[in-house]
Amino acid sequence: MKKMWVAMLAAAAFAVPSVAGAQAYPERAVTIVVPFSAGGPTDTVTRLVAEAMAKDLGQQVLVENVGGAGGTLGAARVAEAEADGYTLLLHHIGMATSATLYRKLPYDPLNAFDYVGLVTEVPMTIVARKDFEPQDFKAFIEHVKANKDQVTVANAGIGAASHLCGMLFMSAIETPLTTVPYQGTGPAMTDLLGGQVDIMCDQTTNTTKQIQGGTVKAYAVTTPERLDVLPDLPTVTEAGLPALEVSVWHGLYAPKGTPPEVVERLSKSLQTALQDENVVARFGELGTTPSPQEDATPQALKAKLETEINRWRPIIEAAGVYAD
Ligand code: MLT
Repeated sequence: MKKMWVAMLAAAAFAVPSVAGAQAYPERAVTIVVPFSAGGPTDTVTRLVAEAMAKDLGQQVLVENVGGAGGTLGAARVAEAEADGYTLLLHHIGMATSATLYRKLPYDPLNAFDYVGLVTEVPMTIVARKDFEPQDFKAFIEHVKANKDQVTVANAGIGAASHLCGMLFMSAIETPLTTVPYQGTGPAMTDLLGGQVDIMCDQTTNTTKQIQGGTVKAYAVTTPERLDVLPDLPTVTEAGLPALEVSVWHGLYAPKGTPPEVVERLSKSLQTALQDENVVARFGELGTTPSPQEDATPQALKAKLETEINRWRPIIEAAGVYAD
C-alpha cells in the first residue's frame, strides 16, 4: 500500500512542472515563422495577427521569415522545433497542396503539427505589370496564349498559393508559360512593379493597394463575388474561367507534442486577435476578413487541412506538376 502512495506522489510531482509551465505560459517572447519572404501576403497577415496576440499574451510575438521551396522549408523548421509553444508557424493552402506536390516532404503535414486555428481566407487577383497591353481579361488570355514563349509568370515557388493559382490558370487556358520563382511574392511584386516580370496571381493582401494605386494592371479576382475594395474588378467566373476560383486559407500551427494547455491558450489568443479592431480594419482594407471564432480552433483547422489535402490531390495529379 505504501509503495502505491509513493508512486502516486512521485507521478504527481513530475506532473506539476508541466501544469505549472502551461499555467505560466508564455514566460518569454513567442516566434511565429512565416515560410515566405518579408513584405508578402503571408508576412502581412502574420504581422497584424502577431501584434494583436502580443497584446493578449503579454509577451512579444516575433515574426521570423524562413522562405524557400514554396513554404516547405519554413514549415520543416517548425515541425522540428521544440514543442513548447514558443515557435509557431503561420502557413496557408500550401500546407495542403505541398502534401501532393512534394513526394519527399521532410515532415508529414497531418502528423507533424498541433493545430491552433484558422486565421483568414484571402482572395487572389490576376495582375500584370502596369504597361501590359491587354485592356480586359478576354484580351489578356488571347495575348498570353499568342505570346506564350515570351510571357513570364512570377510565383513564390512550387507549393505557394501563387504557384497553385498560376498552375490553375495555365491549365485553364491550356498554355504552359515560363514561371519565375521567388522566395515570396513580396520580392516578386517588386519585379512586377519594375517590369522585370509580366504577370502574377497573388493575394489581395499584397495586390489591393497596388491595384488601387494603378501601379499594376488587374484583370480578375478569384472569388465568386466582386470585392468591395475592388468593385470594378470582374470575377474569374464573369470572365468565363470558373475553374480559377480559389481563396487562400491560412492556419496557425505549433509543433506536434505542444502541451494541450498551451495550444488552448494560443487558440484563445488567436480568437481574441481576430476580433482586434486593427486586425479587422486592416484585413478589410486588404480585401479579406478574419476567420470566424468557431473556425479559429484546432478542430476546424485540422478538418480544413484534411479536406483540402484530399481536394487538391487529384487536381495536382491531373496537372502532373510535382516539385520532386
Ligand atoms: C504564396 O503562397 O504565394 C505566398 O503568399 C507568397 C508570400 O506570402 O510571399
